[in-house]
Amino acid sequence: MKILITGIAGLLGSRLSDWLIENTDNTIIGVDDLSGGYIDNIHKDVEFYKFDLSENGLLERLFQNRKPEIVYHFAAYAAEGLSPFMRSFNYKNNLISTAKVINACINYDVKRLVFTSSMAVYGHGLENKSPFDENDLLNPIDPYGIAKMACEKDIQIAGEQHGLDWCIIRPHNVYGEKQNIWDKYRNVLGIWMFQHMNNEPMSIYGEGTQTRAFTYIGDCLKPFYKAGIDDRASKEIINLGGNKFYSIKEANNILRMVIGEGTTQYKEARHEVKDAYPTWEKSVKLLDYEFKTDLEEGLTKMWRWAQSQSNKTIKFWESYEVEKGIYDFWKK
Ligand SMILES: NC(=O)c1ccc[n+]([C@@H]2O[C@H](COP(=O)([O-])OP(=O)(O)OC[C@H]3O[C@@H](n4cnc5c(N)ncnc54)[C@H](O)[C@@H]3O)[C@@H](O)[C@H]2O)c1
Repeated sequence: MKILITGIAGLLGSRLSDWLIENTDNTIIGVDDLSGGYIDNIHKDVEFYKFDLSENGLLERLFQNRKPEIVYHFAAYAAEGLSPFMRSFNYKNNLISTAKVINACINYDVKRLVFTSSMAVYGHGLENKSPFDENDLLNPIDPYGIAKMACEKDIQIAGEQHGLDWCIIRPHNVYGEKQNIWDKYRNVLGIWMFQHMNNEPMSIYGEGTQTRAFTYIGDCLKPFYKAGIDDRASKEIINLGGNKFYSIKEANNILRMVIGEGTTQYKEARHEVKDAYPTWEKSVKLLDYEFKTDLEEGLTKMWRWAQSQSNKTIKFWESYEVEKGIYDFWKK
């Protein structure tokens, strides 16, 4: 079977393609513009195309030539906290690109589209309470969450009107080897590793009492595969990830324990959800998800990998679309 993965140079895309190449006979086609992922992450057996999904025509041509049967649409710029300062970029990159993927899936009779949405669609949740359930009303609090919510709705409409089969996954705080740790704006565990390796204290925004369910990527790969091929996952929305949640402060303590040293610095609080962790029973029932790797073990693996990496240039936006209200730690 021909499987197309967008965002193949990123964490989810590269690790899923490695897993598929090792465990199945499928042909893996990948797209990425390398804006947030790295060429070294891509397995040598992937048929790779470098382009920006939001550009006109390129994706259509790829579908016409290669006719993928299953599509995993992972490409996005997942900098949730930055999205209120980069609104139009966020919608172009995360929403318009997805519209192009949906169009191509309809036009070329793709068997199933798997889309990675986000916990961001829940916002603060019902009555400000976690866990977030797949049936909860969506109430995002930033443009990133709004883009993901719109993509979800549009995919469902394509299912109703054009018969497109889909599965929507809402992953939560996935981390592990091959994650981008060189971007100031996202992936807190990776940011801390980068800071420590560069002799800086690890920064915590606010008091560090925010809670998140961190999820090791290795535990998600088989469930992702099932999201693309298993009948149980057809037209389902599924939270995916760890069933244990930690405060940011606790997560930071665990990382400092794994490293064996390190300091922490508290910074200005951000506009963000306080408690964000989901229900997970549906992922067990439909995708056979198993929580195997706790945070200490996952961070040990990721830290070993991080130390073996050459230091890359840190991602820092030269300008923002909105400068008003930008946090001190992101100012020029
Ligand atoms: N990692 C998580 O914790 C998490 C949680 C919830 C949702 N998600 C979603 O899962 C997906 C994958 O996340 P990830 O952690 O692997 O992110 P990532 O940044 O590691 O990978 C995304 C990849 O998409 C590519 N990309 C971005 N915009 C593109 C464009 N316009 N055209 C082509 N390629 C483009 C980037 O270069 C990058 O390699 C994203 O949609 C993200 O929103 C991730």
